[in-house]
Amino acid sequence: MYEDIKSVLIPQGEIEAKVRELAERINNDYRGKSVLMICILRGAVVFYAELIKRLNLDIRMDFMAVSSYGENSESSGEIKINKDLSQPIKGLDVIIVEDIIDSGRTLSNLKRLLATREPSSIKVCSLLDKPSRRVVEFEADYLGFVVPDEFVVGYGMDYAERYRNIPEVCILKPEVL
Ligand code: IMP
Ligand code: MG
Repeated sequence: MYEDIKSVLIPQGEIEAKVRELAERINNDYRGKSVLMICILRGAVVFYAELIKRLNLDIRMDFMAVSSYGENSESSGEIKINKDLSQPIKGLDVIIVEDIIDSGRTLSNLKRLLATREPSSIKVCSLLDKPSRRVVEFEADYLGFVVPDEFVVGYGMDYAERYRNIPEVCILKPEVL
């Protein structure tokens, strides 16, 4: 696996510290509340698991798998739900947990879709952001790191479903892509 890695972009220690910091902010912002933590499968799984362990809140878990229609649908604002939530979210405080914001399509479409289900509030927590690649305006409420325009893997993120188990955020060798 590591033979395909060019370099480590964010080492384990830095990720751990950032996850603690994000959890602390969420703990402060939601003190005394119940929160539905929504994990976007599959890339956010590792980040999500580490994050929720550090929340001292009454949380519930749910999972969603989505894909955006990509390049051909820049303006159509559509998103494909591959796996939906297991419950209605009307009246709930929800936080969407995602691995990375790239073009911004996935999260802006997903947030708009979930808003139609009338949650009491909806925020987004993303580990990474690649703002240089943005097509649709979007900003996370809780953000870990801004990263350069390089394809990253590890800590849950994949290239062709590989490398998700690498415990740090790495840059792939360009010849692998
Ligand atoms: P967006 O709709 O373009 O913002 O796409 C976000 C999704 O693309 C993320 O949830 C990731 O699954 C994927 N993605 C974007 N950049 C990377 C990357 O550098 N490594 C791995 N997955 C990425
Ligand atoms: Mg993803």
